[in-house]
Amino acid sequence: MKTSVENTNVANAVSEQLNQLLADYQIYYQNLRTLHWYAQGRTFFALHGKFEEYYNEASEVVDELAERILMLGGKPTHSFAQYLQASRLKETEAISDGTTAVNVVLANSEQLLNAVKETFNVAGDAGDEGTLALLSGLIGSTEKRIWMLKSFLQ
Ligand SMILES: [Fe+2]
Repeated sequence: MKTSVENTNVANAVSEQLNQLLADYQIYYQNLRTLHWYAQGRTFFALHGKFEEYYNEASEVVDELAERILMLGGKPTHSFAQYLQASRLKETEAISDGTTAVNVVLANSEQLLNAVKETFNVAGDAGDEGTLALLSGLIGSTEKRIWMLKSFLQ
């Protein structure tokens, strides 16, 4: 008997969602690069370093998502043209002001949290425990980041 992950239709539904998430994370990654480069002012050292930490984490997530899609028998999207088309996140402007930049990262993180939860529900319906494990870790770390970004803005 096939497990649910080996069931093609179910795996397709999950990898389709994961591909959307991959696109979101690629835009998020590039937004963090932009904000890392353009940071200026009193919060430069704090934010230049923090955004680097965040984009390194995002880079790991991108890889995990793409490889999970492959494990499910799907094909991860690979071009920025595809990412721009599929992403629910928008590309950021080149922002130098710290508060404005943190607001962008906060808004992106809240969008990602919703997107991850949406994918979590699809994986749950599919009984795809491997994807659920990956995503639940992501929910926890994203919630923590949201709390920290809000604390910065206080
Ligand atoms: Fe750098």
